[in-house]
Amino acid sequence: MSAGITPASPQAIERAADELIQGNLVAFPTETVYGLGADAADPLAVARIYRLKGRPADHPLIVHVLDTDGARDWAHWSDQAEVLAKTFWPGPLTLILKRREQACDAACGGQPTIGLRAPAHPLSIALLRAFHQRGGRGVAAPSANRFGRVSPTCAQHVLDDLGDDAPMILDGGACEVGLESTIVDLSRGGPALLRPGGLSQADIEDVLGQALVQPDRAAPRVSGSLAAHYAPRTPLELVRGEAIDARLSALSARGMKVAVWSRRRPESSCALWRAACADPVEFGHSLYARLRELDRSAADCLLIETVPDEPDWRAVADRLGRAAVGAGRPPS
Ligand code: TXA
Ligand code: MG
Repeated sequence: MSAGITPASPQAIERAADELIQGNLVAFPTETVYGLGADAADPLAVARIYRLKGRPADHPLIVHVLDTDGARDWAHWSDQAEVLAKTFWPGPLTLILKRREQACDAACGGQPTIGLRAPAHPLSIALLRAFHQRGGRGVAAPSANRFGRVSPTCAQHVLDDLGDDAPMILDGGACEVGLESTIVDLSRGGPALLRPGGLSQADIEDVLGQALVQPDRAAPRVSGSLAAHYAPRTPLELVRGEAIDARLSALSARGMKVAVWSRRRPESSCALWRAACADPVEFGHSLYARLRELDRSAADCLLIETVPDEPDWRAVADRLGRAAVGAGRPPS
């Protein structure tokens, strides 16, 4: 396995595709977050992802393909899948569909369904193309972080997380979207939103001409839907803007160093303050990098201002909520 951050070049892409074909892992950029990729048709390679991430074996992976033709190889296609993929692929949308018999069991986490996505980042597309030319059919890739932790949105984050265990990391700069793909389940009943993400629910509903339903109890597992996920190591509290000053004073009085991320600068001093932006897309773009920065700040507690309770903020609010539940303790 060849470790380290590798600048993007045609040669690097060829080498990364060779690594994948040989059953090795490659971390690569997508427009959402960096993925930790393996040949989805190779059970041993897929097992390496689970080992490296420390991810439970029953949490399925997303298989990345070039286009709808590639997706049909893995799943039973439907009219709704066709219309969504035609509109939003390549892009930050994952479709859960009934899997074909030949789809690798390991990539599906033993489920009867499979998650498929065609990523839009030029380097992911180039890598998938080079992999395809070598006979590869799909690249299984979760976010390239240890299980339960903050997702990586640049190559250095991947190296920070995986350290000496890191495989080749293709460097594509900072991810444009910064939040994971939106996951829509088309495998059972009406289309259901399993995870809000980089593509808005309203855009999907417009194209489908119907509302997405909430997943019921029998819906497939999504590890991003665990109460605690995307978590920094420092305890984190979400606090309404008007309550930040009082909370900061109370924590400081107890001798705690506090880092604050809020729209308005707090009245009293804190260990670190970062200004929160008012635009949900921009906020989502920088969310994980900011969480990592705050986590590194040596603060004893992070205070983050709650975001507006509006549809455009749904994915950001989802990630912040889970980060707060998981912060400061090992991921469950
Ligand atoms: O943007 C993204 O989706 C990134 C990039 C790398 O593509 N990937 C990503 O993967 O976020 P991961 O593994 O961190 O999250 C994928 C989620 C998991 O919560 C998993 O449980 C769910 O997708 N998932 C995958 N296949 C599924 C299936 N067959 N049924 C239900 N959920 C599934
Ligand atoms: Mg993840």
